[in-house]
Amino acid sequence: MKILVVGNGAREHAIAAALSRSPQKPRIFAFMSTPNPGIIRLAEDWIAGELTDVEAIAQYSKKTNVDLVIFGPETPLAAGAVDGLEEKGFLCVGPRKALARLEADKAFMREFMAKHIGWGYPQWWTFTNPKSLKTHLLSHPDVVIKPVGLTGGKGVRILGKQISSLEEALEYARSYLEHEGRILVEERLHGEEFSLMVFTDGKKVHAMPLVQDYKFAYEGDQGPMTGGMGSYSCADHLLPFVSPNDYEIALEIVVKTVHELSKIFGIPYRGVLYGQFIQTDVGPRVIEFNVRFGDPEAINVLALLETDAVAVFLSIATGDLLEEIKFAHKATVCRYLVPQGYPDNPEAGIIFSLPLEQLATAGVEVYFGSVTEEAPGKYRTTSSRSIALLAQADTPLEAKSILDKALDKIPHQLYWRRDIPRLHCGS
Ligand code: GLY
Repeated sequence: MKILVVGNGAREHAIAAALSRSPQKPRIFAFMSTPNPGIIRLAEDWIAGELTDVEAIAQYSKKTNVDLVIFGPETPLAAGAVDGLEEKGFLCVGPRKALARLEADKAFMREFMAKHIGWGYPQWWTFTNPKSLKTHLLSHPDVVIKPVGLTGGKGVRILGKQISSLEEALEYARSYLEHEGRILVEERLHGEEFSLMVFTDGKKVHAMPLVQDYKFAYEGDQGPMTGGMGSYSCADHLLPFVSPNDYEIALEIVVKTVHELSKIFGIPYRGVLYGQFIQTDVGPRVIEFNVRFGDPEAINVLALLETDAVAVFLSIATGDLLEEIKFAHKATVCRYLVPQGYPDNPEAGIIFSLPLEQLATAGVEVYFGSVTEEAPGKYRTTSSRSIALLAQADTPLEAKSILDKALDKIPHQLYWRRDIPRLHCGS
């Protein structure tokens, strides 16, 4: 079995690592925009290219004659890579372009939810000009501004938090209004966030363990939004602030979204659907939908996957999802190490060492993000997240303690949030 992984972050390293544990011993290939040292170690061959270059992905798939293509990030999905590859006969894990719009166009997502789901979302409005936006913000100050297009998770601005005045809000919205034609404004919701990801073939849906991701750059959830600074999950696969009833409600929204999307477009949604929820006083509400694994959430869940990953992904792509997919009952904590100044002024080009053997001995799994390898154990930062570290244990508290001890051994050129996870879940 030959499998191509598209993407080059720690999420894709986690996908490749899960594949490499398969008893089927798949031959792994990678299509990456920049070389990831962890993926390179697991892959038989790799090529560098633009992740949105559908033709280049198709050519490499043909050259390597792969049996399956797994997409990590959203950008190739939004560019129609699955459409292009499926037309050429390749089996793919990831939705087609029409379905990927659920993430690529947030206004579409809200319209879809309003029309086909009918509940489980905040109040929202779209604006096409600064004047009507200004009028609205004057009477609705407790809101969040969201660009409708892809922003790598960094586009959301909360009024009163990252944006302190009406002028700043209008200034922020202006360039998006110019380039995307409209901007989304949503009622600000309060509560803990959680990620509910599912595997699906368009009909059957299998939930992965719930994960909480921490998106703000600094401790105490301060500072700018990032792609995610770390995440945790509990051994029971739930989170302490999500009741079983609210979990069922959130899952119902995700399942209905898979089925409705597949129905209205007449194309099965095959891949991972990731509902990003906020647990409000009146139940879970969808903040966003993503058409892929979360990063870092993929690292938490794939590390726990006990079922053969090759069988899982193949069953998605062939439209016959496995009836049973098992995850170990362990808690996980993941923390990203990032360049100082990330995300606004990241110190790119800093060389740092990683004591890989010591980390392994301490029970810490290393997933490479955006770094270049200078020499074995020596890496250079770029402007993105550098390394994700994961620990598994019986409780999140124990996993946190494994990471805390291991991180003491790492030179402090890199930054990480020491308050991940904030434990509601001391058990
Ligand atoms: N962890 C947030 C995301 O993957 O979008």
